[in-house]
This record gives sequence, C-alpha cells and structure tokens, in this order.
Amino acid sequence: MAREEWNSQLGFLLAAVGSAIGLGNIWRFSYLAYEHGGGAFLIPYIIALLTAGIPLLILEYGIGHERIGSAPLAYAKIRKNWEWLGWWAVLFVMFGIVLYYSAVISWCLNYFLLSFNLGWGDDPDSFFFKEFLRVSESPSEPGEIRTPILYGLMVVWLISWAVIYRGVQRGIELANKILMPLLLLLITVLVVWALTLEGAMEGLKAYVTPDFNKLSKPEVWIDAYSQVFFTLSLGFGIMIAYASYLPEKANITRYALLTAGINSGFSIFAGIAVFAVLGFMATTTGKPMSEVVSQSIGLAFVAYPKAISLMPGGNIFGAVFFLCLVVAGISSAVSIIEAFIAALVDKFGVSRKKSATMISVLGFLGAIIFTTQGGLLWLDIVDHFLTHYGLIMVGILECIVVGWLFGTERLRRHINRVSSLNIGIWWDLLIRFFIPMILALIFIGDLYTELQKPYGGYSWTSLVLIGRDWLMVTLAVAFLIASMPWRTGHHKLEGRSSIKKD
Ligand code: PHE
Repeated sequence: MAREEWNSQLGFLLAAVGSAIGLGNIWRFSYLAYEHGGGAFLIPYIIALLTAGIPLLILEYGIGHERIGSAPLAYAKIRKNWEWLGWWAVLFVMFGIVLYYSAVISWCLNYFLLSFNLGWGDDPDSFFFKEFLRVSESPSEPGEIRTPILYGLMVVWLISWAVIYRGVQRGIELANKILMPLLLLLITVLVVWALTLEGAMEGLKAYVTPDFNKLSKPEVWIDAYSQVFFTLSLGFGIMIAYASYLPEKANITRYALLTAGINSGFSIFAGIAVFAVLGFMATTTGKPMSEVVSQSIGLAFVAYPKAISLMPGGNIFGAVFFLCLVVAGISSAVSIIEAFIAALVDKFGVSRKKSATMISVLGFLGAIIFTTQGGLLWLDIVDHFLTHYGLIMVGILECIVVGWLFGTERLRRHINRVSSLNIGIWWDLLIRFFIPMILALIFIGDLYTELQKPYGGYSWTSLVLIGRDWLMVTLAVAFLIASMPWRTGHHKLEGRSSIKKD
C-alpha cells in the first residue's frame, strides 16, 4: 500500500504547528519568562531556538523525509541495531507523556465548563487542590478516581481517536486546518480583551522588563533549552513521522523555520494575555506582581481563575482561555499518538483503523492513574523524569545516529536538494558537536541537583519506582519490539537520497 501523504504542504505545516503549540506555550512559557528575568529570558530562549531547536527540527524533518518512515523505521534504515531507539522515543511519549498530558487537557475541559458560572468559588486555590483534584498525601495512595476528570479524559481520547482513525489527510490534516485558525482567533480575542483591562500595562511591564542579572544563572539556560525541546515536540519521533508523509518535493528548511517561528510567536503573543491579566489582578487586589504569579500549574488553574472571577464578563473570558488550552492540547496529543501509530503501521503493516482503536483504548486506560487523587503527584514525577532524562538521552542518541552514522553531510545534501534555502556546514557542526554537548551538560547538571535532594520532596522509593522505572520499562519494551521481525519489508527500501536522479 502506498504511504499516506499530506494533501498540501500547508496542511503539513498546520499539523506540525498543531503539535508544537500546546499546553506548554501558554502557561509554561509565560511562567518561565517571568521567573527568569522577564524580557531578558528571550535572549537564552532565542539562542536555544537558533542553536538547537531549529537545527534539530531540520534534522527531524530531513530524516523523516529522506528515509520515508516513522522514527523506528527511519533509524532501522540507518543501522539495523538502532531501531530500538526509535521505539523508545515513540513508546515513552505514547505510554508516558500523552497519558498525563491528556489528563491535563481533561482538567482544562472541566475548567472550561466551570468558567460559565465561575464554579471554582471564592477560593480557587483550595478548590483546585482539595475539591477538584482532592490530592492525596503521597503517590503511593492513589485513592479514588475523580469522575469529572475521568469523563473529560474520555472525551479527549474519543476526539483524538476519531482524528487519527480518519487518517493523515481526512483526519489529522483536516482537524488542524480547523483547529489552528480557531486557536489563533481565540488567542487574539484574549490578548485584545486582556489589554483593555485596568492594570494590564503593569503586567506587561513585568513581562518585558529585562533583568539581565539572571542570565548568569545556569538554570535559566537549562530551562531555555528544555523549553525549546518540549515546545517544538523534538526527540519523540513526532516530527519525523509527520515529515515522512511529505511528497518528494518538500521545502524542508523553509517549513522548519516557519514552524519554529509560528510556535515561538504564539508563545510570546499568548504571554501578553497572561501577563496583562496578572497585572489586572495585581492592580485590583492591590498586591505586587510577584505575589499574584504562581508556579506552572497554579498559573492556569489558580491564578487565572482568581483573576477571571474579578473581571467583568470573566466567565466568557475564562471559557475562551480554557478552550484555547483544550484546542492547543488536543492537536499536540494527536501528534503524539500518530507517532506511535505510524511506527506500528510501518513495522507490522497493521491497519491504521484497528491500531488507532486499540492504542486509544490502551492510552485511555493507562491515563486513568492520572485521574486519581494521587494523579497530580504521579504526573509531576513522570513528567520530571521523562522530559528531563528521557528526552535528553533520546536527543543525544538521535544526534549520534543521524549525525555520525547516517552522516550530516549526506542528509544536508538531501535537504538542500529539496529546499529553497540552503543550510551550510554550521548545521553539521551543531548536530555533531554542539547539541550533544549542551544536552550532556544539562544531563549532568540535572543529575547533580537530583542527587542533592529528592525531587519535589517525594520519597526516593516513589521517585525510583515511578520515575526511573517508567524509563526502564519503556526501554525494555523498545528492545523487545525492535527484536521482532518486520512484517512489511519497508526497512529494506532505500531512502530518497539513494534514488539515482537523472
Ligand atoms: N509541544 C507541546 C507543547 O508545547 C507538547 C508536546 C510535547 C507535544 C511532546 C508533543 C510531544 O505543549
């Protein structure tokens, strides 16, 4: 059967942007920017984008297009014994990240409904932790399943399943062609509305006033690099799978620049709405900005609801805000599931429809642990381990397999042949030396802090059992799947650069 293809390159771009723009762009970026010196954070962020984000995005688009395959297939076509790496990447994002990511989208869906009558009451803080999540004492006490979260989760998986079931063109491409313009519209409404609020300017001042002293801190740089990886959905084989559906003629470099530009532009734009609202709250309550900003999750589910309750027409504002998160989140979740489905279809020749159904059911079941009272704690640990260690290891190995075994020069020739913009030798140097080195430094830095004291005040047992073992189990399964025989023979096909032209 012929490989599925995008209907148009614009469709590909929108799908890639849909993957990149997610929950991370709205609350994670804003929070990091504030925490790390306001406007000054843009400096490490942009440097990270130029030196690692864009070069790796070009790499992932390039290798997916050249090898014509999902991550496991692409790596298997480079070196047979590296196929496991592709499986590991798609496994831990499918049976890791998307499980808790879908639970957070479910929270957003609940909050979307709660917005209409400001259902979080006068004390959004205790509402969120004590009534909505009913967070338990420790991860070893999952307690009961929170039914509103479970229902939301069902909706999230049902939508994602339906999109993937319909295939690349009629599902993913079509969904993103609707969702992305909708998202842009919603966020524009929010930004314009937020700017009219009293005190908005004070918030913006906090957002953009640079504090250059912060730039000497290593954490700021580590956070900038990890944010760029996470926000561009790099390392998990997602962009590889999406690029494998491109036609022979595909302007890879240009699309990488556009994806990265639109994604970061969106983050910066959304940040305006977030900070204008915080400025409004600071002015209305007479508190300084630093007191109204709260940490990551608290920003969306505690600080925001507080502000919404104070605002004229806040219920509509809130509904638009949480709908934005749901839309941004679902298009990212779809891309994660697709990376895994593409890999199954490539290796075992199974039908997309059957595997989409089976994997969505498994994903939904697996995500249930995150709807329990211990869910938030599990989420915190799994997220910490996967996005810190898992992602970094996969990223380093990806640079080695593609940069050294396949060869950056060969890939660069292919990319330059199909693209209008040429990349030079600087790209080879970044992929072969600079990015693995930066990632290794971050890894060591993280490990060092990790060993100083247990992450987030959890017990070592929980961290090892949940966090480390999550990585180990997915790794073992990756080796297992890689050792199974290919049912399709796709791994024997040549890539595009081996096809003789004229
Ligand atoms: N890029 C998405 C965001 O910023 C998250 C994501 C991570 C999506 C990993 C896919 C894979 O929220």
